[in-house]
Amino acid sequence: MSTEPLNVCVTGAAGQIAYSLIYIVAKGEVFGKDQPINLILLDIQPMMGVLEGVVMEIQDCAFPLVKDVVATADPMVGFKDCDSVFMLGAMPRREGMERKDLLKANCKIFEAQGAALDKVAKKTVKVLVVGNPANTNALICSTYAPSIPKENITAMTRLDQNRATGQVAAKIGVTCDSVKNMIIWGNHSGTQFPDAAHATATVNGESMSVYKAVNDDNYLKTDFVSTIQQRGAAVIKARKLSSAMSAAKAACDHMRDWWMGTPEGEYVSMAVYSAKNSYGIDENLMFSFPCTVKDKTWTIVSGLTNDFTAEKLKITEDELKGEREMALGASV
Ligand code: NAI
Repeated sequence: MSTEPLNVCVTGAAGQIAYSLIYIVAKGEVFGKDQPINLILLDIQPMMGVLEGVVMEIQDCAFPLVKDVVATADPMVGFKDCDSVFMLGAMPRREGMERKDLLKANCKIFEAQGAALDKVAKKTVKVLVVGNPANTNALICSTYAPSIPKENITAMTRLDQNRATGQVAAKIGVTCDSVKNMIIWGNHSGTQFPDAAHATATVNGESMSVYKAVNDDNYLKTDFVSTIQQRGAAVIKARKLSSAMSAAKAACDHMRDWWMGTPEGEYVSMAVYSAKNSYGIDENLMFSFPCTVKDKTWTIVSGLTNDFTAEKLKITEDELKGEREMALGASV
């Protein structure tokens, strides 16, 4: 493993997801226990005071792997020679704000950040967009970073995958590591389709399909789907704040699997650029598919749909097409 430090940038670094995420990354859980890192923390100018406090805490953690910490409000500084970027920062939806206005506001942010990545990041940079609407923000970012290969910019649906795994594991009465190959299709939104059709569970040492282990097809096609689709809202209702610890864990899972590869026989859900022939989904969307990763390159796993899935995919594809139209209009 390289002993040269990796440059890892976190945007929205003064926010709540970053507060959990920085700890996991600095402990070596993403890039490896022997891999030193430089942390570059990007937020907006009014948050620089708060960010200074985060920098102090990182120093006080005395992480052996953290070689340098930089706090900045300038994406040109933040993304300079970056190997990996966690894009958590985004414009939050305010009361009374229409979805269209939210998309437009984020368009400005991700246009500027895409342009900065284009100019100063390494071309091999791996960018994970978490800030919502994550799929479309990632598409905007990619559109304005033409020199960065499209496969190097992805959006997060791993939290949805982890939520789905957690629900099914609890239903069966096994631990989460016993459940594999849960799929999230489409947008990180209420139209996403959590799909257990190809997932497996190990129960009392025996591997079987999740459908067999749960033994309730109706649940897996109805309540399970709506529970995952609405899970974010349920957490906000209970916590009065959006998911943060679980979002940070999921972002780290996504980046780790992208960096290190997926285990043999397993796939993970990542929102990736839809090229021709990926399940018939329109080109030029960031759509969540089941993916395997090898040598830091993801590949969409094919042949995992049926008639029931196809119908569900269409709904979330249409939503993403609508978001693209609102955000980028005629420019796509
Ligand atoms: P937060 O509000 O605590 O922090 C966001 C931070 O981003 C703030 O410090 C803000 O100043 C900063 N920011 C805003 N504009 C920026 C810009 N142009 N450049 C750099 N920083 C900027 O929010 P939290 O809870 O940390 O969530 C971050 C984002 O992640 C939100 O958009 C949220 O909706 C999204 N999210 C996505 C999930 C997913 O599964 N894809 C799950 C949970 C949250």
